[in-house]
Amino acid sequence: MRTQPTRSRLLAAVALLSFTATSVLGAALPGHDVHQLARRANSDPRLSGVTRIEDGQVEGIEQLLNRTATKSWEIGTHLAALLELSYPALSPFADSTSWARPSPSSSPAPTEILSNVAQILENQPSGQQQLVSDGSAADPASVGPFVVLANFTLDGDEQIGGRSKAQVDDAVQRQVDVLMNGTPRTPDGAISHRTEDVELWSDFMYMVPPFFAYLGAVTLNSTLLTEAYTQCALYRTHLRDERTNLWRHIDNSFPGGGGRADPGLWATGNGWASYGLLRVLATVVNHPDDGVVQQFASQSRDLAAWAGEIIEGTWAQPRTSQGLRHNYLNESRSFGDASGTALLSAATFRLSLLSRRFSTAAVNLTAPSSLALASAENSYRALVPARISLAGVVSPVVDPMSFREQLEGVKADGSGRSSPEAGAFVLLLEAARRDWVDENGGTEPSAVDAGVDGMWSATAGREHRLGAGGVAVVLAAALALVVGA
Ligand SMILES: *[C@@H]1O[C@H](CO)[C@@H](O)[C@H](O)[C@H]1NC(C)=O
Ligand SMILES: *[C@@H]1O[C@H](CO)[C@@H](O)[C@H](O)[C@H]1NC(C)=O
Ligand SMILES: *[C@@H]1O[C@H](CO)[C@@H](O)[C@H](O)[C@H]1NC(C)=O
Ligand SMILES: *[C@@H]1O[C@H](CO)[C@@H](O)[C@H](O)[C@H]1NC(C)=O
Ligand SMILES: *[C@@H]1O[C@H](CO)[C@@H](O)[C@H](O)[C@H]1NC(C)=O
Repeated sequence: MRTQPTRSRLLAAVALLSFTATSVLGAALPGHDVHQLARRANSDPRLSGVTRIEDGQVEGIEQLLNRTATKSWEIGTHLAALLELSYPALSPFADSTSWARPSPSSSPAPTEILSNVAQILENQPSGQQQLVSDGSAADPASVGPFVVLANFTLDGDEQIGGRSKAQVDDAVQRQVDVLMNGTPRTPDGAISHRTEDVELWSDFMYMVPPFFAYLGAVTLNSTLLTEAYTQCALYRTHLRDERTNLWRHIDNSFPGGGGRADPGLWATGNGWASYGLLRVLATVVNHPDDGVVQQFASQSRDLAAWAGEIIEGTWAQPRTSQGLRHNYLNESRSFGDASGTALLSAATFRLSLLSRRFSTAAVNLTAPSSLALASAENSYRALVPARISLAGVVSPVVDPMSFREQLEGVKADGSGRSSPEAGAFVLLLEAARRDWVDENGGTEPSAVDAGVDGMWSATAGREHRLGAGGVAVVLAAALALVVGA
């Protein structure tokens, strides 16, 4: 890469120092939620002998997210990552159906999620319908499932964030109400991603349908389950590019349209769309009530097929020399983006899992092709550990506030700018791949040809199996990469 040898040695020394410092400080810090989380995620016996992310990297991402995930969709994505990585039994992707019956006795209690929900409720201005203030109509809904979860884990006389259980219920209902009745729509009924005019963004797919679906599933409200599916169908009609099956980012060509269109095939947007479809799918197909499963059988097939279109479309596009996908998937002049690549890889593992588990005659789901699965594994190996510093900085990534630009001012130690959503996507990917490995008897997916990448990920892959000594070398290399990127 572009890093000079001397600079690389210097950085290696810095990395070793920071590695030591982190371990020493980590051991001495009180209130080490993050460390417990990392251990819970990684001491998993299912992962022994399998290439995986390092504890230190999970800790780094967690700490960075706790400090930097402040925008509505960043909080929602952070909480989803915590749930899927550390409380998988409470996620609709769980390998049982008990997720749909959360209760005050759910064990282990999702403490970090509950403390975040308490903050959300404390910060919500009184009278505001959105759970988090935002010009986006959709993004605040991304925290919705976690407020619903908190409600169900609350005893009748308990409070959270200064609100009684009845007030939490009311806050959720008001968020649903403003989306259903107080947000502009297209003539055919797609709810706008924005509050002020009619714009459909692929991002919407991760924010709103999974919220409607989760609330509908845990309160047995089929109006909401149906609305989740309907919004998915409408968004696909408007955003799908028929040539590639990938989704455009923003369509505003409607009466009352505003803002700026983006017809490009944005990687992260395709990640939002496919992962959103899969969260809705898991919610209906993995529901304990067989009536719900049967009622939504044909919709489930659609959701899997639509996620599959995006997934196959993605891996048919070129990869960069680093083994990443381009920020605009079919534009080989746009930079390689670790962020969108991570979410699209996570989606591929999730579709594989769901299609394998629910291949009954009634609900047969499309599986990803073996090429798609191998490409997701290739991407995983390109990302982990080489693209993540010990402080949890993922690089190179798209600027979360400016979708055409690469994020500048990134520093490996976390003191510069970073993308919270990228950190969360890496955790979602780790959780999805862990679950895949588990269901496949502890076997790693096979990657396609070795031409994934240049020296770093290849070295990283080998060193990764060498234990602690090798790990320090790899982390040093990763740090050099992040800084040099
Ligand atoms: C995040 O930090 C807060 C304190 O600011 C702490 O209460 C909380 O437990 C932390 N969450 C995690 C996941 O570390
Ligand atoms: C809150 O939880 C109660 C059960 O404890 C449930 O009846 C109610 O529908 C829930 N409301 C929301 C919005 O989740
Ligand atoms: C289902 O949810 C919708 C939207 O919040 C609500 O209007 C409706 O009353 C609910 N239905 C039932 C049976 O609770
Ligand atoms: C990428 O795909 C879009 C939609 O099909 C198309 O308009 C655009 O020209 C393509 N870009 C390149 C570089 O092929
Ligand atoms: C899946 O089920 C549907 C409806 O039962 C059927 O039409 C279709 O052929 C099935 N597909 C496969 C691959 O079995």
